[in-house]
Amino acid sequence: MIACENITKTYKTGDAQTDVLKGISFEIKKGEFVAIIGPSGSGKSTLMHILGTLDRPTSGKYFLNGQDMLKLSDNELAGIRSQKIGFVFQSFNLLPRASVLRNVMLPLVYDNNVKKEKREEKAAQALLSAGLDEDKWHHLSSQLSGGQMQRVAIARALVNNPDLILADEPTGNLDSKTGDIVLDAFCRLNKDFGHTIILITHERYVAEHADRIIEMKDGLIVADEASSKTNLLKEK
Ligand SMILES: Nc1ncnc2c1ncn2[C@@H]1O[C@H](COP(=O)(O)OP(=O)(O)OP(=O)(O)O)[C@@H](O)[C@H]1O
Ligand SMILES: [Mg+2]
Repeated sequence: MIACENITKTYKTGDAQTDVLKGISFEIKKGEFVAIIGPSGSGKSTLMHILGTLDRPTSGKYFLNGQDMLKLSDNELAGIRSQKIGFVFQSFNLLPRASVLRNVMLPLVYDNNVKKEKREEKAAQALLSAGLDEDKWHHLSSQLSGGQMQRVAIARALVNNPDLILADEPTGNLDSKTGDIVLDAFCRLNKDFGHTIILITHERYVAEHADRIIEMKDGLIVADEASSKTNLLKEK
């Protein structure tokens, strides 16, 4: 589903040049749950922006569902993003003065193919998948706890039924107990609903919730292995 070949990214600021990604190659199959781990500054978010087509690499190749992403125009990429990719960020990015349901319906508002009644139905479905109880759906998003906000953000990422979910430090602003609830939501989306998930984190504990862990250091992949969870399952 995803194929990256020798992706590099170089930023130029004035005379200085920073090589942030120095040749990244990997493939991810449909239905995989992959964590990308690495220390601060190793290039994880830069890579996620490229995978999410929010940014273009300096060189290399990127195929999503067999389609060459680097040959597409910015407009075509915007279309791919709205239809095929769901984003979850550390800082939930919800509209505070809008209800939970409205926040989740938002990505559908621009889609003329989805009728108004259908929007609410899809939002409800996504909220159930993300594990947020129905008694919260008419609250303002600002009235929720951090863990609940992140589940709304996950539901918003799901509502278009994307091929790929990209999450950058989704538990970064949560205490460990709330983080666990959000991680469980990702695990369920992968196991029960078959969503392909890439989760970015700098914490080994968080990464171990995935099936496979890609480790980055200084803009390079230094390891790409099954998680301990997967290894334990294999031994059983
Ligand atoms: N627009 C930019 N211009 C110049 N340098 C940048 C830009 N964006 C990122 N960088 C640099 O690229 C490097 C990698 O940044 P990136 O955000 O990908 O790291 P990260 O692994 O996500 O770190 P963190 O765990 O702290 O989020 C950093 O050294 C950063 O300063
Ligand atoms: Mg980052």
